[in-house]
Amino acid sequence: MVVTQSRMKGMGMPQFFASCPKGLVEPLEAELKDLGMQPYDRSQNGVFFDTNWEGCYKVNLNSRFASRILKPILSFPAYQAEELYNNIKKHDFTKYIDAHQTIKVDASVKESMLKDQRFVAMKVKDAIVDQFREKTGERPSVDNERPDLTVYVKVYKNRFSVAIDTSGDSLFMRGYRLEAGEAPLKENLAAGLLQLTGWDMKTPIVDPMCGSGTILIEAMMMALHIAPGSMRKRFGFMRLKGFDQEAWDRVLNEALDAEVETTDLHLYGYDNDRRVLMKAIENAKRAGVNEFIQFKKGNVVTLVPPVEKGIVITNPPYGARLGDEDNLRDVYRDFSHTLKTQFKGWDVWILSGNKDLIGDLKLKASRKHFVYNGSIECRFLRYEMR
Ligand SMILES: C[S@@+](CC[C@H](N)C(=O)[O-])C[C@H]1O[C@@H](n2cnc3c(N)ncnc32)[C@H](O)[C@@H]1O
Repeated sequence: MVVTQSRMKGMGMPQFFASCPKGLVEPLEAELKDLGMQPYDRSQNGVFFDTNWEGCYKVNLNSRFASRILKPILSFPAYQAEELYNNIKKHDFTKYIDAHQTIKVDASVKESMLKDQRFVAMKVKDAIVDQFREKTGERPSVDNERPDLTVYVKVYKNRFSVAIDTSGDSLFMRGYRLEAGEAPLKENLAAGLLQLTGWDMKTPIVDPMCGSGTILIEAMMMALHIAPGSMRKRFGFMRLKGFDQEAWDRVLNEALDAEVETTDLHLYGYDNDRRVLMKAIENAKRAGVNEFIQFKKGNVVTLVPPVEKGIVITNPPYGARLGDEDNLRDVYRDFSHTLKTQFKGWDVWILSGNKDLIGDLKLKASRKHFVYNGSIECRFLRYEMR
């Protein structure tokens, strides 16, 4: 997140930055355009866009792929602590919160003179609270769990980019997944994968190793136009001064009006672990999509298609967090055999973070995307089972 000074000063409208998992920048940019935003630049892990505050609320509520929406406020070079302190203190933070509210500063530093990110975070926090004390006689306290204002500081080659958070909890936390199996996909990554497949929202999807059901739940929410943030009670922007309740009501009502109540589409999830399936069912209920998703216990060895034609999208275990490699090799071989014999004519998309296991499928991919599941680089591969 590096913003040029001219960009910071030159534009009338406030600008924002939507971050996302690496590999999802293109779907995110397209989504922002669909939401009526004006993207103007991108980095490896997000998109800059112009809008007003109401637009910011709208993106927080409706973006399926964003992790967080930030509002960049400052960009400056600094080599010493005093320079950093003075640059922060010059900016008026009292316009965001009152002194009785709480703050948190989050810093990350790369290739810079001020190397210690905890020190950088502390200096920024000191500059902010000193400013409050001088202006109001009071200072905000620090709350690292649920602050009213989070300030993000990113330092790269001595350039400081400072932004305030507008999301609060990360946007992948939709609120329906209270329970998960061992290696769940983040909800926004699951939604991004669906987008990368070009899914038409009409074709049945089968997830043969569905875990807590994230891919299918996200798919059904898309098909029913359920806004991903509509279950959340709280967003960061609600804690900021000047929060416009009427604008938020407009944005929320517009999203609720767009929901579709029913569909002929059905989705199918299988897993060989009964306990994790129970969690998937509870999650789907909370998301309000359970009547359209069938979850059943099943092993990939014996799986047969529940419908004549559809698309398989799945995230098999890949070793980094689950199971041991030898067992997993068998799972991938069995899965491949099932696909070749039972799923002729289907499109199959597999996300895996383990190249060797992917090799065990002995299938030739016709498309390949690189996406990041947390810090794990994964391949998302398309196989056409002709
Ligand atoms: C990485 S997890 C899937 C996570 C899921 N996408 C989510 O978001 O919760 C892989 C799942 O494959 C299941 N699994 C492993 N071996 C299987 C097999 N032979 N047949 C069916 N499911 C299997 C595991 O129980 C696990 O829930």
